[in-house]
Amino acid sequence: MAQTVRGMRDIFGAEIAAWHRAEEVFRTISAAFGYEEFRTPILEHSDLFQRGIGQETDIVGKEMYTFVDRSGDSLSLRPEMTAPIARAAIEHTLVRHTPVTRLWYNAALFRHERPQKGRYRQFHQYGAECLGSPWPEADAEVILLAYDVIKAIGLTQFRLEINTLGSAESRAVYRAALVDYLNAHRSEMSGDAQRRIDTNPLRVLDSKDEHDKAVIANAPRLRDHLDETSTAHFNAVLALLDAAGVPYTINPVMVRGLDYYCHTVFEFVTDALGTQNAIGGGGRYDPLFAMLGGGDTPAVGFSLGIERLLLLSEVEAGGWGEAARPDLYIVTMGDTARVPAGLIAMRLRRAGRTVVTDVLRRSVKSQMKDANRVRARWVAVIGDDELQKGTVSLKHMDSGDQIEVPHTEIETTLASRE
Ligand code: HAM
Repeated sequence: MAQTVRGMRDIFGAEIAAWHRAEEVFRTISAAFGYEEFRTPILEHSDLFQRGIGQETDIVGKEMYTFVDRSGDSLSLRPEMTAPIARAAIEHTLVRHTPVTRLWYNAALFRHERPQKGRYRQFHQYGAECLGSPWPEADAEVILLAYDVIKAIGLTQFRLEINTLGSAESRAVYRAALVDYLNAHRSEMSGDAQRRIDTNPLRVLDSKDEHDKAVIANAPRLRDHLDETSTAHFNAVLALLDAAGVPYTINPVMVRGLDYYCHTVFEFVTDALGTQNAIGGGGRYDPLFAMLGGGDTPAVGFSLGIERLLLLSEVEAGGWGEAARPDLYIVTMGDTARVPAGLIAMRLRRAGRTVVTDVLRRSVKSQMKDANRVRARWVAVIGDDELQKGTVSLKHMDSGDQIEVPHTEIETTLASRE
């Protein structure tokens, strides 16, 4: 039997209505903040991610779907959207044309991770990137956008965790102090952590291993190594969040898993989804454009995992919520009613109504059953009688009310009870 690829899933039925509602939220709230949608190809040159995300990161080191195509080029299925957005902004000189470029996306992404609930090999992110501003107002803007989207999806069981990685200079000083400390405790730590001391020491800080955690508890703190500008930037972001009434907790060991970050980093986390507790994350990534050969463009953004947003909304609401309902189901009685019923259906569809007709030549009884199954708001019955009079009998399914109206008045009757 044919099957989906492991870690990849079909989205349909009651779940798809939840996706549509979420996608409407993404569109309207992004627009309210002045963000424009941007779409990039699913495939990029592999070196975009190697340079942008970093060779030593899990994403590039272990999780990318990479292959050589028929022209001999190494291509990768995109594992995230920030590097592609930066690539596109450089390619189209977007930032030179508009000093602040605000973009959002809803994209399918691919990471070869071990699948479990809330973690897939094909997943989707909604995200936004604010390109061109070094100021804390931009950091706060993207956090507020993410926060408003999560709230509008209807979620309550989440919290915002925030930290600063400081400037590249202050991080270099800190990195040296951290490596000295970790080397002194090397033998007490996991193999993974020992390897990371040499490749990506900051990542040791968010290790989940109990032995590592014990060592990390007394490790030097990045906060004590921040220069004045970095501290001022972080405090300004926090003050903007306070002013906007967005609650947060400072998580001093959060470093995030990608190399391009500096200054503000943040995550939206939940306790309601088991181990996959991050519903989204982001931060400032001023170094990225230069890493891709695009000059100096400060930028900040975030991505939310759509599957996790929707899983959490399912948990919180106790289900996927209402599936879409057709406005009208036209039941035909007898052969002659079929063509006129089809014409009425087309007229109403072109007026913006969702209308279902029978294409199985079924009995009136099984058409009624089908109308119930798809939960049509109204049912119209057209038979020889109605045809002669130029009318239909309309039944409002929730109340059971029935009324006979001329063909020309179906739309106004539907509109009278939305
Ligand atoms: P990330 O933390 O790698 O950040 O991913 C963001 C979110 O995507 C995660 O919090 C999670 O909800 C979702 N996610 C990641 N991997 C999976 C998976 N295998 N299955 C399901 N959901 C997943 C980024 O991708 C950065 N580009 C965020 C960013 C934007 N930073 C600046 N701008």
